[in-house]
Formats: sequence, C-alpha cells, structure tokens
Amino acid sequence: MNQSLSTTRQTKLLAADAAGIAEAAELLRAGGLVALPTETVYGLAADATSGTAVAGIYAAKERPSFNPLISHLPDLASARRQGLFDANALALAQSFWPGPLTLVVPASPGCTVSDLARAGLTTVALRVPAHPVAHAVLAAAGRPIAAPSANRSGRISATSAEDALGDLGGRIDAVLDAGPTEVGVESTIVACLDGAPRLLRPGGVPRSAIEHVIGRPLVIAGDAGHAPISPGMLASHYAPAARVRLEAQAPQPGEAWLGFGPDEQTYPDSLNLSPTGDLREAASHLFGYLRRLDTLGPTTIAVARIPEQGLGEAINDRLRRAAAPR
Ligand code: TXA
Ligand code: MG
Repeated sequence: MNQSLSTTRQTKLLAADAAGIAEAAELLRAGGLVALPTETVYGLAADATSGTAVAGIYAAKERPSFNPLISHLPDLASARRQGLFDANALALAQSFWPGPLTLVVPASPGCTVSDLARAGLTTVALRVPAHPVAHAVLAAAGRPIAAPSANRSGRISATSAEDALGDLGGRIDAVLDAGPTEVGVESTIVACLDGAPRLLRPGGVPRSAIEHVIGRPLVIAGDAGHAPISPGMLASHYAPAARVRLEAQAPQPGEAWLGFGPDEQTYPDSLNLSPTGDLREAASHLFGYLRRLDTLGPTTIAVARIPEQGLGEAINDRLRRAAAPR
C-alpha cells in the first residue's frame, strides 16, 4: 500500500454546521474519508460506489480482512434503488427507519454499491440513520456511503469525535464533530433474504420490537435448521468456479492470469490488479476482476504474488479463501 495515502494526511476537525456538512459531503464525493456522527456510533465514511474510496476505509482501519460494509442512505426511496425489499424488509424499514436498523437484502440489478463494499456478495447491507447531521451529509453526497465504526481494527467503536480523531487522526481527511452519539452500540442487523428474517447482529433496535413488526420470531443466525450467515461463511460465495493458484510466476496453458505490478509480458485472458503496484487500487479491483476472469471459463486462475503488507494482508486473506479446497 502507498503509505502516504493513509498516514500523512492532515485531518480536519469540521463543525457540524452548514459549512462543515457541505465540506464533508464534498470530501466524500471526491473519494475522501470522513468520520461522521450517526445515532449509534461514529462511522468512517467513504463513497460506497468507489472501490478505491472503500479500500481507503480498510487501509485507515488496518482491517486484516474485507468484511462487507453497511451502506448508508438518506431515505427509504434511495435504499430501494440499491436493494430488493420483500414484505418483511419493507415493514421493518417503514417502522424503524430512520434509525439503528440495518437490513441485508438482495442487491438490486441497478445497485451501485461497489464489489469491495459488498465483499463480492450478491446481497447488500443498507441503513438509513436517524442522526440529523448524518442525514444532511448523506443527502448532500447523493450516493450510498459505506461506514464501519470509526476506530482502528480491534479497538472499541468510537462514540465521539475525540475518539475517532484519537484513533484515525492523520489517516483520514476529516472528522465531523456533532458531540457524543446517542445509542452507542451499533445498529441491529437483520437479513431479509428468504422469507424468514434472521438476526445477524443484536444492536440499537431490540429484537422484541422487530418481532412485533414481522409477527414471528426472528431466526437467530446459526440456529438449528438454518445455515449460519456470518460474513466468514458468506465469503465462500464469491469463490470463483475456477480453481485459484496463488503466488504464481506465470500462467500455464489453459489458465487465466491475475497479475499485479508491472508485468514484463502480456498474457491472453489476463487482468492486472494494479499495473503500478498500488495495493489500494488492487483491493478495489479484486472482486470484480476475479469474477471477470471466471466468466472466461478457465480451469484455473493463476494469481501473481501480492505483497503481504498494508492492504495486501486483506487481499491475500480473500485470495486464500478463494483458493481453499472446496
Ligand atoms: O451502527 C452501525 O451499524 C454503524 C454505524 C456507523 O452506522 N456501522 C457499522 O458498520 O457497525 P460495520 O461495517 O462495522 O458493520 C458491518 C456489519 C458486519 O458485521 C458485517 O458482517 C455485516 O454488517 N454485513 C454487511 N454486509 C453484509 C451482508 N451482505 N451480509 C451479511 N452481513 C453483512
Ligand atoms: Mg465495528
């Protein structure tokens, strides 16, 4: 990873007034990283439609793997352009949005959330937060905004601008300060994928309130008779049909090639994650390029060695899962 992208930035502290909100939205539209308040915790926000911007989130957080992220929207109408809502999802959205509820639904055909923010899944996690400042930024940004909690990986979620700045200062473009958050725990996550809504993460909306709306008990992820739906399990969903061979020097006959860095040669059926060797660019292309090569129908996708540093760790984590025997 290009260290300068994440470690040498001057992080601005923005007031949550009209000028600060406009600047935060402008930074996001330009691909920047902004910690902003929601009613649950501060989120580390980036343009969810830009793989490169989303890669910046993982770099700033030093997240070792690409978990799928929640995309935030200003209202139900814009959320419905990204995901397909069944009757349960619609009832839950109408009851609890704006608020601390995230719905995992099938991505719509017109979904603009990047592969990286969805970790290559065919589903998408959507949330309409209740915080007025978050709402104003989302409305001004005019696109889905990915935002995990604004803390470094392995640390406690940030519930104030000071916490976010302490963890991420120097790594992100700005912190929008609206004082401490109200809820303090993350949103409740419910998957509405097959008619039987499942609780993926307890959070700001109590389970009983959700069950009251859907008129039935929530399936708890991992309950007997229902396959668990943890991101780790879901990760295997984007494993390509082709086998994956890692740390390859060059493709063998019949293999597609996923390169990285300046290639001396060009091969048929090949894509390069980043010709300049930029790990952030590589991360943003990873899921899409694997899918594109897979559609060519090779027996094997051979992958060049990716350095195990910065975002390379997360890229290699995903590649090893894709290469695991199955
Ligand atoms: O309160 C919140 O939800 C905060 C604020 C900032 O909005 N955000 C937050 O985001 O907690 P994050 O990215 O840390 O939470 C993402 C969670 C992960 O546990 C992930 O597994 C789950 O959402 N998730 C996201 N997309 C998913 C998907 N398509 N399928 C299953 N789980 C998904
Ligand atoms: Mg978190």
